Amino acid sequence: MRIGILTGGGDCPGLNAVIRGAVRKSLLLGYEVYGLRNGWKGLLEKDYYILDHKAISGILHRGGTILGSSRTNLYQEGKNYYAEAIQNYKELGLDALIAIGGEDTLGVAAKLYKDGLNIIGVPKTIDNDLNATDYTFGFDTAVNIATEAIDRLHTTAESHNRVIVVEVMGRHAGWIALHSGLAGGADITLIPEKPFKLDEVCNVLIKRHGRGKSFSIVVIAEGAKIHTEDGTDKDGSFILQKLEKDAFGHVSLGGIGNIVSDEIERRTGYETRAVVLGHIQRGGTPTAFDRVLGSRFGVKAAELIEKEEFGKMTSLQGSHIVSVSLDDAVGTLKTVDDEIYKTAETFFG
Ligand code: F6P
Repeated sequence: MRIGILTGGGDCPGLNAVIRGAVRKSLLLGYEVYGLRNGWKGLLEKDYYILDHKAISGILHRGGTILGSSRTNLYQEGKNYYAEAIQNYKELGLDALIAIGGEDTLGVAAKLYKDGLNIIGVPKTIDNDLNATDYTFGFDTAVNIATEAIDRLHTTAESHNRVIVVEVMGRHAGWIALHSGLAGGADITLIPEKPFKLDEVCNVLIKRHGRGKSFSIVVIAEGAKIHTEDGTDKDGSFILQKLEKDAFGHVSLGGIGNIVSDEIERRTGYETRAVVLGHIQRGGTPTAFDRVLGSRFGVKAAELIEKEEFGKMTSLQGSHIVSVSLDDAVGTLKTVDDEIYKTAETFFG
């Protein structure tokens, strides 16, 4: 048996733990493993190297991915990349392929499975917005990094009697914002699922300062939506970093925190600063939770190949690692539920 493994989309702490888990189990099963470089691009270009014990040694605690990543979309309109990829899979003599990725990478995986390839998916994203799994790996690390940043910003905000707006990642879902906001004691948290009016945000801060507080922390997800006076919702993408879209049609987010910060200062008179955490949340060493989850996902992925359960994704449900259909994972996104939002709201103001 010869299997391939690749990592696609934005990198994520814990990717190397998954690769190590999948390779170690595969070697025990007697499989040969090809590591495809840079996501789906590696399959398109037949760019791979052999993953043996030596290749995966010393990587468990390392951030990033030893395989590299890209946002190559094999089903991009107007191209026939997927046909080339299917041909290459055959030419490389692959019997199965493990794709580690988020919504986009696994969307391609689900289509390739329908087109006849033996695919297994592993759910990755710091955003935690993939359906059919309680958690994706990488999320816990991102939340811990954001929480530590909020703790640090708290002390400087207090010293200077300032409002600090902390922008975290979260394109479609506010999981990182909500969890780090809860853990870091945010005074208000703004997420894509709950469009907000700037006046309402200011009123929360004014009320809090009326109780004698001289500083505040606002946590905002990069994809948060501002509900404007004319009744429409503007999402964070109106502050584009770059105009061009990636191969999956996504714009580059980042900057809504600065807009909100300026507006808070203008409307309340409180001195306000913005901090955009950006890719700091994706880099560096994974938490123990993500290393364990990643290792368990990796081992499970190889086991699914052994059982020939293709078209499936590894999933955490409760405390168990199970398999679910790739289709269930990629159909819709897992956005923040009302229960956790209501809990966070208790601490607003
Ligand atoms: O998908 C994970 C993510 O970190 C999003 O939260 C963010 O919008 C995006 O990736 C950033 O992508 P890039 O690294 O391409 O700028």
